[in-house]
Amino acid sequence: MMTAQREFTEEKLGAAMKMTAASFGRFAKFITGELGIKMSENKIPMLESRLMRRLRQLNLGSLEEYQDYLFDSPNGEQERVQFIDAVTTNKTDFFREPQHFDFLTRTALPSLRRLYGAGTSWNLMLWCAGCSSGEEPYTESMVLSEYARENEGFDFEILATDISARVLDHARLGIYEESRVDPVPPALRQRYLLKSKDPSRGLVRLIPQLRRRVSFHRLNFMDDDYRVKGQFEVIFFRNVMIYFDKPTQEAVINKLCRNLKPGGYLFVGHSESLAGLRIPVESVGSAIFRKPV
Ligand SMILES: C[S@@+](CC[C@H](N)C(=O)[O-])C[C@H]1O[C@@H](n2cnc3c(N)ncnc32)[C@H](O)[C@@H]1O
Repeated sequence: MMTAQREFTEEKLGAAMKMTAASFGRFAKFITGELGIKMSENKIPMLESRLMRRLRQLNLGSLEEYQDYLFDSPNGEQERVQFIDAVTTNKTDFFREPQHFDFLTRTALPSLRRLYGAGTSWNLMLWCAGCSSGEEPYTESMVLSEYARENEGFDFEILATDISARVLDHARLGIYEESRVDPVPPALRQRYLLKSKDPSRGLVRLIPQLRRRVSFHRLNFMDDDYRVKGQFEVIFFRNVMIYFDKPTQEAVINKLCRNLKPGGYLFVGHSESLAGLRIPVESVGSAIFRKPV
């Protein structure tokens, strides 16, 4: 039960959490400038509820106090990492939009093999851009491991990037609640997932052989230069640019494509459209693009 003191504090904090248009404007300017994410006033309730938690942790009494802390205090720079964690939407799943993984193994990999894997060995490079808490790059790691079982000489590395430090920490651990892995086919669950020794915890972990193929790094798509070394045969950039406006989408895709090999594939989310963007890839399937050879 809530104590009277706590109830009073929550009530006071609730009132202080009502965001004024000026406060919203300042947060929105920072979010759009720093992350590229479009903001409109219908996001106010979401922002209020996400920041409420942070204010409680910091023991601050109002959003104005929080803005001073975030933008004007010596701790501001550090706090911006937490703020970005709070305002990004990290929804993801294992085997999300599964048709893409069928296309990858049935069409993209055989075609790429003819281009780049003609010798005895072939090391494919895949970039999972906007990887959230790791479900997507680990799905790719399972799918490519399956391909490697049937294709001698094939190996791969996955670069996985995101702006949110919190989701990257989770991703590096590679530990998930058991219910999260429901979409993983049973045979792959058996091969690539370890159950926790204490079954009451209901946790699973990806096996080390799968985890070590994926390296996680913090990267902001708004940076001018991503400073990513290497050229990739495949880039997954799914369900990220939906939050950006058209000019930002165009700029980000052009920057990503600097690291895409000729003949390489770009996968985007099924609800995202690249229509009208000046980008160096052409459509080859549903939410699938390819750089001309
Ligand atoms: C909805 S999740 C999509 C995750 C995964 N790609 C999928 O399709 O399941 C979007 C991710 O993009 C990241 N993101 C948003 N803006 C970003 C930016 N400017 N730079 C890098 N990552 C960003 C968020 O932190 C979030 O984890």
